[in-house]
Amino acid sequence: MDRLNSSKELVNKIDRLKVERNAVILAHNYQIDEVQDIADYVGDSLGLSRQAASTDAEVIVFCGVHFMAETAAILSLEKTVILPDMQAGCPMADMVDADDVRELRAVHPGLPVVCYVNSSAEVKAESDVCCTSSNAVAIFENVDSDQVIFVPDQFLGGYAARLSGKKVVPWKGFCPTHMRILPQDIVDGRNEHPEAMVVVHPECRAEVIELADAAKSTGGILDYCRASNAKEFIIGTEIGLIHRLRLENPDKKFYPANPLAICPNMKLITLEKVVWALEDMENIVTVEAEIARKARRAIEAMVAVG
Ligand code: 13P
Ligand code: SF4
Repeated sequence: MDRLNSSKELVNKIDRLKVERNAVILAHNYQIDEVQDIADYVGDSLGLSRQAASTDAEVIVFCGVHFMAETAAILSLEKTVILPDMQAGCPMADMVDADDVRELRAVHPGLPVVCYVNSSAEVKAESDVCCTSSNAVAIFENVDSDQVIFVPDQFLGGYAARLSGKKVVPWKGFCPTHMRILPQDIVDGRNEHPEAMVVVHPECRAEVIELADAAKSTGGILDYCRASNAKEFIIGTEIGLIHRLRLENPDKKFYPANPLAICPNMKLITLEKVVWALEDMENIVTVEAEIARKARRAIEAMVAVG
């Protein structure tokens, strides 16, 4: 069987199983092209959380990484949330734990704790409010303090502090994939494509953000490129986003700032694993009730900011 036929068969199987299980498939913008193409919704972390909270489906197959599926489980306790590959984690989320947050609070008493949604349920449970890359600046502005503790991403924290005018107590976390994008990549890209706008993710190094025309969440990058009159764009984020950018803007050109900016965890989900997830109903992500209750408070505090 050639690859085309075999993936057509997988897609048909997924469609059948989805109806049988009353399931919805949510996929992050960094998923492999084939997985994005079969998803009911493709989006950024904030959009995916909103979808998870509002869907009527009984089963959510979450094509993304563990913290995203966990957030979906926290927001929809009565639903079954499946992560097709339990090895799909986020190294940045693993760079801080609940004890670290308790320690930060002890060293900086009274300061609010904002946590990036790229964190475990336990870390969220110890935090006052969550944020994603699309609302971090608004969350910083909304916090009733001129200084905040921010975990785990030092670069998003620095970016949100600069734009909100607030001071930040940063944590030392970072995304290994976005760290691959270097200032020299932006300089080289601009030399090669002098007409191109440069849009990067705020998880990039501060020097990379400094050289860009804009820093946005993955959803924000899509909106920016759709609305822009420019015809060429250098994209400083995980390369999976390029698929949707090209699909949605066939008349525009997109160049990855660094084609090696690949998140190996995001790429673990395949069509085969989506079929197995729906067939076997295994790899169910659950969160202990008390942790879920506390984490939900921090997520809802984020959603309330809008
Ligand atoms: P977005 O919320 O911008 O999609 O980012 C999620 C992420 O993991 C970026 O590395
Ligand atoms: Fe985590 Fe980075 Fe992968 Fe996003 S791209 S899931 S932050 S490792």
